[in-house]
Amino acid sequence: MGNSAARMIPVPKIHVAILMDGNGRWAAARGLPRSEGHRAGVAAVRRIVRVAPQLRIGTLTLYAFSSDNWERPAAEVASLFGLLEDYLRSDAAECTARGVRLRIIGRRDRIPLSLQQAIDSAERQTAAGRILELRIAIDYSSREAILRASCWMLSSLEVSDREFARRLGQVTNGGVAAPDVDLLIRTGGERRLSDFMLWESAYAELHFTQRMWPEFDVADLEAAVEDYFGRERRFGRLPDGAAAS
Ligand code: FPP
Repeated sequence: MGNSAARMIPVPKIHVAILMDGNGRWAAARGLPRSEGHRAGVAAVRRIVRVAPQLRIGTLTLYAFSSDNWERPAAEVASLFGLLEDYLRSDAAECTARGVRLRIIGRRDRIPLSLQQAIDSAERQTAAGRILELRIAIDYSSREAILRASCWMLSSLEVSDREFARRLGQVTNGGVAAPDVDLLIRTGGERRLSDFMLWESAYAELHFTQRMWPEFDVADLEAAVEDYFGRERRFGRLPDGAAAS
């Protein structure tokens, strides 16, 4: 194959989803309040977003606030919402310049009005971004989304995967279906999904690391992505070249 033909083959872009766990423990280990762990977590988000396109990541979904996180102390919830609002307001211009499109998934009816407004404005400002889709999950519950999409479809006799995924996209952000997750990363040492992207991660490769999220750096993401590209993805099929007997 000549060089020009090789150049025409599109490089596959992957969807990486991250559970950014460990902010609180990172802060406690340094004698700092938990809010400082979340602040350091935002710095890690910036590092990862900047490098993601170079690692063939086309969609990045970050779990910032689960619907279960409402159970945390009010002061921690308020500090998280404050950090998210600051990020959306301060980084939208850089996202626009880098071709990053911001989309927020999750419920919008319970979060503070000023955060809702920051979301609307950041989504509008970055809408033309085509290099990376950065999806931030806020007040997000995968189970609730699946339930709501299922209720919506109750009157349909038969529903395809694709149609259901489209409905799911509509209930989680009023928009498009998310591509399936290729690689799901959880930092902080725990090994569970915590109600995150359950439908979309049906065939995701899982990567668990002991690293606390504020310490997660470019080399960690590179290692996870490199590991992902080395894995054989079979989607229930036999390995390539294996004859059925
Ligand atoms: C889990 O760690 C982390 C969260 C509940 C919040 C994650 C949020 C951020 C990193 C800020 C997001 C900002 C942007 C811009 C997307 P934990 O607090 O449960 O940590 P622990 O398990 O050590 O207590």
